[in-house]
Amino acid sequence: MNQFNSTYNISRSNIGMEAEVERLQVQALMGWEKEFRHLKWFGLSDGMKVLEVGCGPGFITEKLVDSLPKSKISALDIDENLLVKAKQRLNKASDTNVEFIQASVYDTGLPDNEYDFVIARLVFLHLYEPLKAALEIFRVLKPGGKLVIIDLDDGIFGAVEPKIDHFHSIIDKFIAMQGKAGGNREIGRSLPRLLESTGFSNIEMDAISVHSDLVGIEGFKEQFNPKRFEPFYKKGYLSKSDFQSIEKAFENLLTNPDSYAMMIFLLACGTKPV
Ligand SMILES: C[S@@+](CC[C@H](N)C(=O)[O-])C[C@H]1O[C@@H](n2cnc3c(N)ncnc32)[C@H](O)[C@@H]1O
Repeated sequence: MNQFNSTYNISRSNIGMEAEVERLQVQALMGWEKEFRHLKWFGLSDGMKVLEVGCGPGFITEKLVDSLPKSKISALDIDENLLVKAKQRLNKASDTNVEFIQASVYDTGLPDNEYDFVIARLVFLHLYEPLKAALEIFRVLKPGGKLVIIDLDDGIFGAVEPKIDHFHSIIDKFIAMQGKAGGNREIGRSLPRLLESTGFSNIEMDAISVHSDLVGIEGFKEQFNPKRFEPFYKKGYLSKSDFQSIEKAFENLLTNPDSYAMMIFLLACGTKPV
């Protein structure tokens, strides 16, 4: 257990807070167009009351605010430092349709039946108790309201070229490490069952790809920054050859014009029955 009841705490990031915020930024922006297309397809529309849980530094919040000018957006995160960053980002005169809430997704303190649409992006993979969080989101949704969880599943992480030696065994080690820490890097595959156990109906699931040839290589470099993985190597979770493979992949992404990468994100949607 820790204060966040999750595996994500930016103050403990191996690359430091500023670099981690940058990593989140490129990761958020590279998939946004496709994610927004899917959110609208799932039913998100302007004028709705929207809650974003685990908003972090607010990159998605900013996109929501800009894309849904008639909506009221509530952006919630447990981490005060990240909320400060999100508030700075959105501190524009026109951003009157956004409010920030410091609370845990497990216990938001928000009223019952309040929101039309809730978005949780890259949060559930970190949660020790995903069902508890989903039940809390269910409570604050209006009947007929929807939850969309955007997350990953490392079983279908994506691809990197030139190929990384021991790629699948390294990924398996990440999955095991995250599991040991209380999170789940294979959460994607279990989202339909999670939504069903929570009480949601009309469950849907979709996948989107982000490819460096189409969205640029920037967002992928930090995924392989050896600094992120050094502590795992030092603690013996990754072997020397695993770590060298990560270093090679990073170097390729930085310097080899033939290199490219692709990542897959999953979006699962459920409706609170009327
Ligand atoms: C990987 S970041 C994702 C941030 C943002 N959603 C994005 O897609 O860029 C995970 C976020 O979840 C937040 N978080 C972790 N545990 C939480 C909890 N128990 N309640 C609310 N937010 C939490 C973290 O503070 C962090 O902002």
